[in-house]
Amino acid sequence: MTQTPSTILVTGGAGYIGSHAVLALQQAGYSVIILDNLVYGHRDLVETVLQVELIVGDTTDRTLLDHLFAQQDIAAVMHFAGYAYVGESVQNPGKYYRNNVVGTLTLLEAMAAASIQNFVFSSTCATYGMPKTVPIPEAHPQSPINPYGASKLMVEHILADFEVAHGLRSVCFRYFNAAGADPAGRLGEDHNPETHLIPLVLLTALGQRDCISIFGTDYPTPDGTCIRDYIHVADLAAAHVAGLEYLMQGGRSEAFNLGNGSGFSVREVIEAAQEITGQPISVVEQDRRPGDPPVLVGSSDKARQILHWQPQYSDLNTILKHAWQWHQLRHNHG
Ligand SMILES: NC(=O)c1ccc[n+]([C@@H]2O[C@H](COP(=O)([O-])OP(=O)(O)OC[C@H]3O[C@@H](n4cnc5c(N)ncnc54)[C@H](O)[C@@H]3O)[C@@H](O)[C@H]2O)c1
Repeated sequence: MTQTPSTILVTGGAGYIGSHAVLALQQAGYSVIILDNLVYGHRDLVETVLQVELIVGDTTDRTLLDHLFAQQDIAAVMHFAGYAYVGESVQNPGKYYRNNVVGTLTLLEAMAAASIQNFVFSSTCATYGMPKTVPIPEAHPQSPINPYGASKLMVEHILADFEVAHGLRSVCFRYFNAAGADPAGRLGEDHNPETHLIPLVLLTALGQRDCISIFGTDYPTPDGTCIRDYIHVADLAAAHVAGLEYLMQGGRSEAFNLGNGSGFSVREVIEAAQEITGQPISVVEQDRRPGDPPVLVGSSDKARQILHWQPQYSDLNTILKHAWQWHQLRHNHG
């Protein structure tokens, strides 16, 4: 007798990281429903690649959530839906608190009412603020320096209270810099506006941008540019499946960093991208941006130990190759 697969609700599943998580869930044998308001998500990728049910709706819509949870037997929720532009969060904090905090709170209240008790959450290394130690462990103080990071930290606090009151258990993943694309080229990063270094560099190589800006060349790092920890999106997706299974087997609530534990400078990324694309990439050196720490690298030992998570694509060249494959397909022919 075959067992019916558990159904997982993936909010933000039409977005970059969420869509890769949906692929990983499908490969692990789960049934998936996506809830996405399509403000940034891509319907075409859901329809052509993921081919799962897409509910176009918003996490702030309690009526929709109550109806959904009454109609479907949802075993767990993976919550990627949110806004993630740091600069915009400084200009328009209300937008971030409304979507990232109120939207998540509405979702959690609907889950509690429907007795759905497993929650996997996209948190961020931006909850740490300026690092006091590198690599950053999970126990590092959390003092965000922008509303985006603050909104994610508020959700972490709400989750602790919801566990006490409603027994809702959660895994919070604090990602470092998500990068790369599905190794088979089916999915990848397509933010609009794009603010992340690797896609910006690759769009420059494709001739869709004139140049790439380096913000700050006088940091206390070997080549003067900022160092970041890039984590392949397929490795992030695999961690989400591991986190989900940990919760469904009764694991206690935990927060885990997801990074590679090593960093690359902005110049190193640009040089590696020139090699891989075979294209010259014009660079413009600019002043430092306020709030950019020189080095942001996380320790993911806890995820390796407790979730037995092992990144498969930690090499920068592999991350860039997969991203380049995707960008060529998406932007030359898409
Ligand atoms: N990309 C990174 O490097 C990174 C790093 C740390 C944390 N995160 C977090 O991971 C999550 C996913 O990031 P991403 O890069 O895939 O972003 P993304 O914009 O590609 O995906 C987010 C998706 O959520 C949807 N969405 C937003 N608000 C919604 C709402 N209220 N209701 C329904 N759908 C909504 C958007 O349409 C989009 O499809 C975000 O919560 C982000 O804060 C991302």
